[in-house]
Amino acid sequence: MDSKEIEKLRKDFPILKRLVNGKPLVYLDNAATTQKPRQVIDAVSAYYASSNSNVHRGVHALSEEATEAYESARKAVADFIGAESAEEIIFVRNATEAINLFYYAYALHKFGRGDRLVKTILEHHSNFVPWQQLAWSRGVEEKIVNVKQDFTLDYDEFEKYAAGGRTKLITVSHISNSLGTVNDVRRIREIAEKNDSLFLLDACQSVPHLPVDVGRIGCDFMAFSGHKMLAPMGIGVAWCRGELLERFEPFMFGGDMILKVGLKESEWNTLPYKFEAGTPNVEGAVGLHAAINYLKKIGLEKIHPHGLQLANQCVSELESPGIKTYSPPNGLRSGIVSFTVPGVHPHDIATLLDREGIAVRSGHLCTQPLMKALGVPAVTRASFYIYNTKEEVGKLADALKSAKKVFV
Ligand SMILES: Cc1ncc(COP(=O)(O)O)c(C=O)c1O
Repeated sequence: MDSKEIEKLRKDFPILKRLVNGKPLVYLDNAATTQKPRQVIDAVSAYYASSNSNVHRGVHALSEEATEAYESARKAVADFIGAESAEEIIFVRNATEAINLFYYAYALHKFGRGDRLVKTILEHHSNFVPWQQLAWSRGVEEKIVNVKQDFTLDYDEFEKYAAGGRTKLITVSHISNSLGTVNDVRRIREIAEKNDSLFLLDACQSVPHLPVDVGRIGCDFMAFSGHKMLAPMGIGVAWCRGELLERFEPFMFGGDMILKVGLKESEWNTLPYKFEAGTPNVEGAVGLHAAINYLKKIGLEKIHPHGLQLANQCVSELESPGIKTYSPPNGLRSGIVSFTVPGVHPHDIATLLDREGIAVRSGHLCTQPLMKALGVPAVTRASFYIYNTKEEVGKLADALKSAKKVFV
């Protein structure tokens, strides 16, 4: 993406015009959530202004329009991630709920003592804690793949842990939210195939940044959140291979997920409604649809290289004044850079940056086991998206150099 293109698209984001602490906002907390373009805000507000109604149940015009908006969003998501059918798309609140859907609707019923699952140390808590629970409640053995010195996964360990015929599930994030490492999903798919394991992909940090095709990756289940890809909060996606999804049990009971209700028993609805109990987040789906259209217009293939370019600039600008970065080698990097300034707590760094209008995240980044493995209590993280510029990375580096002088 060239600077003219970025300058043009920045105008679509009203929030980027505001001042923070008297300084122009430099928003570098995109791995937590992205800002929303006018096109998404307008789509949501137009939905409420002209079509708001509950879906699926009414025969009146508004209900039909709302249903059409909701279901066409589902089709857009299916198309966006290369799903075979819209029935494989379940709308949930966020990636966390999607992973919990897999946990409650499948894993709790199908996995037990003697089975093994393999996850990694760099998982977000959303893809870490559910498997601890499975180990605890069902006696499933957990194996945790480590990261190497270069912040990439230890694939030999992956092979070793998955072998032996007992591994029922392999789960990994496509891109680490703390290190920015792009994991080798092709290799992990091969390991899963060789060992007859299911492959669950946490695509929270990849779907917003690069073309992700579930068929090409060959995973069985995938989770992501709308709010990290320009859409509103409260809408996320669970995708599952249709044949596998047929074997899931409902995990929430109530309206919409039933076909028939008798006095003593009920019959479940068809896919995907069986997993969408209660009134859904229609405005979220409408916003997600608008976000997908926006990203497609930019060209998904351009987003990751842009983030990478900014990350490369960031790593080289931070490392020269002695700031420690936790970033994998260039080819495996993405638009996320975590760092520590020796002798200064990451929260103090984030507070100082905030005074300059620069929004970054600090803390354990919902990856406490990874922090422990890295030997740090916390880090500060800058994460980039389509509207970030080289100049903004320069501002971050300058502010950090000044902060370093103040503290060290
Ligand atoms: C890799 C990864 N997985 C899961 C999540 C959880 O996303 P949410 O809080 O939207 O459920 C995040 C959020 O930061 C993430 O980065």
